[in-house]
Amino acid sequence: MEVIVLPDADRIATLVADAYARRVHANPATVLGLATGSSPLKIYRELIRRCSDGLSFGSASAFLLDEYIGIPRSHEQSYYSVIRSEFTDQIDISADRVFSPNGEADDIPAESERYDRAIADAGGVDIQLLGIGTDGHVGFNEPGSSLASRTRIKTLTEQTRDDNARFFSSINDVPRHVLTQGLGTILEARKVILVAMGAGKAEAVAAAVEGPLSAFCPASVLQLHPNAAVIVDEAAGSALEMVDYYKNSYFHKPDWQKL
Ligand code: GLP
Repeated sequence: MEVIVLPDADRIATLVADAYARRVHANPATVLGLATGSSPLKIYRELIRRCSDGLSFGSASAFLLDEYIGIPRSHEQSYYSVIRSEFTDQIDISADRVFSPNGEADDIPAESERYDRAIADAGGVDIQLLGIGTDGHVGFNEPGSSLASRTRIKTLTEQTRDDNARFFSSINDVPRHVLTQGLGTILEARKVILVAMGAGKAEAVAAAVEGPLSAFCPASVLQLHPNAAVIVDEAAGSALEMVDYYKNSYFHKPDWQKL
């Protein structure tokens, strides 16, 4: 894993937006892997700004990581609604090429298989953005998730429901179940970029990067990915033992090797 420690969220947004823009320039039909949550928001704002400066997602498509079960797609907190309002409705990507798992499906196992197939049929995700939960989850793969898992239903931990309660009027309104790409699905993306900001993520980041490969910290599965980057601000990187090494090695990298 490439670990990059930057001073703040603005610097992270610029670096990750650069990586997205480079891929979309090289291949306009890039398949984007998008994440919800607050961590990617500045990145999305930066990409929206670049779109008004000429960057185009007109031939791209996008796949979301996950979705709640138990609220309709039209709910303002469904991940489909959130990604549209925060990002894809503000760029020139075609709305019918923004895909998400359907948490309203009658047959959840069939929908899960369909979603994995849809990603594969699109040629696979070229660049996947990830946040990390305070319990180490990626997507909604909670601790205990199989490291080889595919898209499927998961039950949220109370910690995750509590973390996400800020988006709902009360914790009682936070769904208990979700559909999420599996860790095995996520590993198939050609490039994975995990971003984390703030001291609240420091333990999860350290466990993911320097801890053992373990289903107990689902984000540690990225240790198996040949092309994964973990980009954190100083606070989120504060529990990393080898933080000075990561800083130096990034600083000494030639430009062509960066992201
Ligand atoms: C949610 C999402 C994750 C996200 C995580 C962290 O549970 N399913 O994809 O990475 O929360 O969210 P935040 O970036 O708001 O801290």
